[in-house]
Amino acid sequence: MNKNFLTSGKLTLLIFLFLFTMNAFGQKISVKDLTVEHLVNPFSIDRPNPRFSWKMISDIKNTKQRSYEIKLGNSPKIEKVLWKTTVDNDQSVLVNYNGPQLSSKTKYYWQVRVKDNHGNTSAWSPVQYFQTGLKPEDWQAKWIAVAGKDTSLASPLLRKEINLKKQVRSATAYITAKGLYEASINGSRVGNAYFAPGWTSYKDHIQYQVYDVKESLKKGVNVIGVMLGDGWYKGRIGFGHQKQFYGDTRALLMQLEVEYTDGSKETIVTDNSWKTSYGPILAANIYDGETYDARLEIQGWNNIGFKENTNWKPVQEMAFGPEKLVGMSGPQVTKHEEFKALKIFKTPKGETVVDFGQNLVGWVMLKAKGPAGTRISISHAEVLTKEGNFYTTNLRTAKQQNNYILKGEAEQLFEPHFSFQGFRYVKIDGYPGELRLENLTAVAVYSDMKTSGKFSTSNPLLNQLQHNISWGQKGNFVDVPTDCPQRDERLGWTGDAQAFALTAAYNMDVSGFFTKWLKDVSADQLPNGSVPFVVPNVLTQNDAGSAGWADVATIVPWDMYVSYGDQGILESQYNSMKKWVDYISSMAKNNLWNTGFHFGDWLFYRPNDDNDGRAAVTDKYMIAQTFYAHSTHLLINAAEVLGKTDDVKKYNALLAQIKAAYIKENMTPNGKLISNTQTAYVLALQFDMLPENLRAQAAQRLVGNVKDYGNHLTTGFLGTPYLCHVLSRFGHEDVAYDLLLQESYPSWLYPVKMGATTIWERWDGIKQDGTFQTADMNSFNHYAYGAIGDWMYKNIAGINPVVAKPGYKAILIAPRPGGKLTSASAELETVYGKVKSSWTIADGIFKLNVTVPANATATIVLPGTGKKNEIGSGSYHFESKY
Ligand code: BGC
Repeated sequence: MNKNFLTSGKLTLLIFLFLFTMNAFGQKISVKDLTVEHLVNPFSIDRPNPRFSWKMISDIKNTKQRSYEIKLGNSPKIEKVLWKTTVDNDQSVLVNYNGPQLSSKTKYYWQVRVKDNHGNTSAWSPVQYFQTGLKPEDWQAKWIAVAGKDTSLASPLLRKEINLKKQVRSATAYITAKGLYEASINGSRVGNAYFAPGWTSYKDHIQYQVYDVKESLKKGVNVIGVMLGDGWYKGRIGFGHQKQFYGDTRALLMQLEVEYTDGSKETIVTDNSWKTSYGPILAANIYDGETYDARLEIQGWNNIGFKENTNWKPVQEMAFGPEKLVGMSGPQVTKHEEFKALKIFKTPKGETVVDFGQNLVGWVMLKAKGPAGTRISISHAEVLTKEGNFYTTNLRTAKQQNNYILKGEAEQLFEPHFSFQGFRYVKIDGYPGELRLENLTAVAVYSDMKTSGKFSTSNPLLNQLQHNISWGQKGNFVDVPTDCPQRDERLGWTGDAQAFALTAAYNMDVSGFFTKWLKDVSADQLPNGSVPFVVPNVLTQNDAGSAGWADVATIVPWDMYVSYGDQGILESQYNSMKKWVDYISSMAKNNLWNTGFHFGDWLFYRPNDDNDGRAAVTDKYMIAQTFYAHSTHLLINAAEVLGKTDDVKKYNALLAQIKAAYIKENMTPNGKLISNTQTAYVLALQFDMLPENLRAQAAQRLVGNVKDYGNHLTTGFLGTPYLCHVLSRFGHEDVAYDLLLQESYPSWLYPVKMGATTIWERWDGIKQDGTFQTADMNSFNHYAYGAIGDWMYKNIAGINPVVAKPGYKAILIAPRPGGKLTSASAELETVYGKVKSSWTIADGIFKLNVTVPANATATIVLPGTGKKNEIGSGSYHFESKY
């Protein structure tokens, strides 16, 4: 283009137009992504002082928020302002509402605008809303269930015809169930959530969901239809075929609040005027799958014009239990990615098997057409045997099988309602006619968390590892963080969750997900302060108190505070954190925690033939003592944040004693630990157990140990998350990369080389000879070892939170290249906005591009220089010799 193309007249005009546009249509700064309690337009806020967050957008470098203004009202245009506040500070995350008391079941509208440090003011944000939940006294509905004993395995249908006398202005449905529910109005599904009301410690609290159902209702006759399933409440959950853990009766509670255009109101509730009958689901449970007989479908049962026959019986009302009804504080479980069938083939055994190419959690949507009574079975498996046959022995007693019985008309689409499966392959039996690829689609189903992180490098194996980590997360973040999604387990194992939480917070926005689950951690904590192995606890009261598992009570609240800047999590969990530390103290003698059962460094490396005694066994009480220190340390951190100075003092004194006791019990005067394992040194160094002057030599012993195993890791669930962190911290970045990039067993990349698409439970789920590890504990979708993701984001890409300014208000960007990587790139959507760090190395030059969101700052440390560059928001480029 001709450089002089812009004549000065044109230029002036352009500048004028530009300025005009800025003034007339927009400002230089704006706000976006408004949330309340981490959620977009939430429907059931129980907190009296909900917290508002927003992100500031600006193209101007070094932008900070100088002040904010929030307006709140009860109409979409906020004509009448109920609360307004202007505050001169830079807080944009979790700002407390502090206006007049909010009413229950009310929709509030709000917007925000901000001023920056350059004198710019944003426009008012688009109006967003939140709705307050029901108070206990607001519930007029009654729990309803089938009359008599609820012994049938089949899913009951419950229906009610209602007559709305006038035009509807607004309609809100509050629904929950004991068991699972799927609701519909006039034949259309209400909402897109699965497994509602979600799994909580039901004996303590059950969540209800809130739906805006105005669009589904009309003046005149409408029909509400709800189907119930066993779910976690009544179905099989836990070990030993345990059933009915929470109760033996599935029940529904629903309240529909309608406001007519003339302002009058009507409330429709579940009560004994509802009718029930059984439908096409003959049986459904979480582990075993679902059996659906299309011949038993009742045409139009949930729609207008249906005539109930004598099969429809009155329901019975049931008394309220002691459990609290609470609004949802996390995301719902919804459908996500769909996978086309890649290949249909016959195995050597003659089975018809379909490959979807990805180990995922959800189900297969199957199209089929055939004679009435035809039974199609879909069985699910994660892997094939060495010989190429369908392998389900590792599912233990979980059947993971969906059965569909055709009714013999037009083609039908089948999918389960109250069960999910973990699989890559399915085996199809009984399909009528030719099974074609387009007859099957797999859909991933998991908690609706936004993807927040992206990570890639010049090494394709590492990229596959990142893929596997994030699919391990998707498959196991199905309302609660589970160990695995396929065998007869699928429980909220606390050790796994604490190991993976930080990595999880890089990949996805897990703030709401863990906020919800931490309530269950508190609820299921035992009166003596011990924390169960699994939460929600469906094991016994004795299954509690294992080091590294129970410490979830201190670790996850702290991780969420650091990742999202949520001080409220520390406030609400503080009691639980403290009770856990006090529990350990009550078990300890002379400050030494050396009692009780512990899982230890679960699934550490064990050679097949261990004649040489090379199994990496770490003394369990030694491990316990390090977690005692760690939990105490995190409690002190939380006490500091919350200004609890007495506790800070008290627990600091305790911490010193815990460390002294550790040294006396576990370390020789020269600094050698009684267990000469990687995990022993890793935990001692990570949790600062050793005197400063003995740390470097301990790190050296760790390096020696790694070398002794030919650059292989030997750590289990507890050592693995910190292994590379410790090596990096003590200057052994090269060894950390050696471990990360190790391709032979045991290593992170060994499963990748073996074709894994998720993280495996064991380092050698499939052994080098192609055979499997012991079938009774061999999941191929278990996220714990994926905890290396945290190190990858922090060290390779270099994106780190700064604890003093949590939630990435301050960011440390300090990439540490290695392992022959020539480039890496990551981004993270933080509560302030997007952070980016991407680098390349070529011709001896290290080039780094970073982006820092508005209202945040960053410290950049280029590799090898140690020099710190302090920057404000904006995009920057750095170069240094490498
Ligand atoms: C689970 C784990 C869990 C462990 C306890 C296993 O059955 O799958 O991941 O942490 O038990 O050690």
